[in-house]
Amino acid sequence: MGVMRLFVIGATGKTGREILDLARARGHEVTAFVRSPQKLRPAGSLRIVRGDPLRAETMAPALPGHDAVLSAIGPPPREAFRASTLVADCARATVEAMAASGVARLAIVSAAVLFPEKGFYFALFRWILQHHARDLRSMEAIVQASGLAWTIARPPRLTKEPEVNFRAARGALPPGSLSVSYRSVAAFLLDAVEQRSYVSEIVGLGQSA
Ligand SMILES: NC(=O)c1ccc[n+]([C@@H]2O[C@H](COP(=O)([O-])OP(=O)(O)OC[C@H]3O[C@@H](n4cnc5c(N)ncnc54)[C@H](OP(=O)(O)O)[C@@H]3O)[C@@H](O)[C@H]2O)c1
Repeated sequence: MGVMRLFVIGATGKTGREILDLARARGHEVTAFVRSPQKLRPAGSLRIVRGDPLRAETMAPALPGHDAVLSAIGPPPREAFRASTLVADCARATVEAMAASGVARLAIVSAAVLFPEKGFYFALFRWILQHHARDLRSMEAIVQASGLAWTIARPPRLTKEPEVNFRAARGALPPGSLSVSYRSVAAFLLDAVEQRSYVSEIVGLGQSA
């Protein structure tokens, strides 16, 4: 796959920054669509566009000419425990803006808490993250109904390790997965859009065994 033009939402976040870094290291042209441009340092292959990811009309004019959208938006950690529609609202705006501008490929971050894993550990996380999980479930429904060429990644707990080191499984959490690095999630999303793999699939991620 040659150079791609990638549009990144949630680009100032921990996963988003890894997407920017890895995408540029792979030679792609990257647009970071952010509400707070001062958080990013301008660089050659990085275009920073200010906008509101909750409003399709601010996103649509910036989208034409891109090959794919990668989205890693999420609530600030303290708000993940309260009812919110942030992720679903952002997905609705993204899908609308993509449809309006003819960009068809979307790779987006969800979470492994949506898998029906058995055991105390997963039950506890499902309870703690019930509000965020509800928002993610609505986001996934919007993405799945979008008619776009989508890929949904469901990672477990995210870690700061600098390595790209992951397993991916279609429709399931890879056995024994408890965590995976932010950078691995970025690598998975980029691999998927570069290779046009995992289209219309929900993919579980986990650290390599
Ligand atoms: N953390 C984990 O262990 C874990 C595990 C599994 C799945 N996930 C999923 O991964 C997602 C991303 O995680 P992360 O740690 O990379 O997130 P993060 O560092 O908290 O970054 C969140 C991004 O969303 C943006 N954002 C938040 N609220 C916004 C709003 N109201 N309007 C516009 N932009 C907004 C932030 O922009 P600003 O910089 O402008 O605030 C930032 O770019 C999570 O939300 C979750 O769904 C996380």
